[in-house]
Amino acid sequence: MITEIEKREIEAEIKKAPTKKAAVIDVLKVVQKHRRWIPDEALEEAADMLGMTPAEVDSIATFFSLIYRRPVGKHVILVCDSVSCWLVGYEDVKQHLMEMLGISLGETTKDGRFTLLPSACLGVCEEAPAMMIDDDLYTHLTPSLVDEILQKY
Ligand code: FES
Repeated sequence: MITEIEKREIEAEIKKAPTKKAAVIDVLKVVQKHRRWIPDEALEEAADMLGMTPAEVDSIATFFSLIYRRPVGKHVILVCDSVSCWLVGYEDVKQHLMEMLGISLGETTKDGRFTLLPSACLGVCEEAPAMMIDDDLYTHLTPSLVDEILQKY
């Protein structure tokens, strides 16, 4: 169930937007900020506040890779899976991440520490290959740099 705090923040987002529906991504971000992902019940209540059906909100939520419809780990790693990164080492970086973490893309480590997800272009193609961990962007990746970076988390 959506909490009072979430409700207030959602109402504030709806007020800022030109229409209720235009606030949908910001509303989902509010829910995700509080829960780390968007469970069905919260999505249904948010849809109700937006005057939308749960199916409409769900289709938007699943379209955006930064909105999570399943539980995620403490840290979310988004490894860029787009063309510039493919050309300069994506495969090695991805393989190394999967080996280090013992998981495949789309999975979370057993200790709940990391979730590894593929991402569309992160917008830093000239510095490929790239990944984000939570809000931190890392570029010019190599397997050994990935090791160093993971130590920080
Ligand atoms: S393709 Fe990876 S950052 Fe653009």
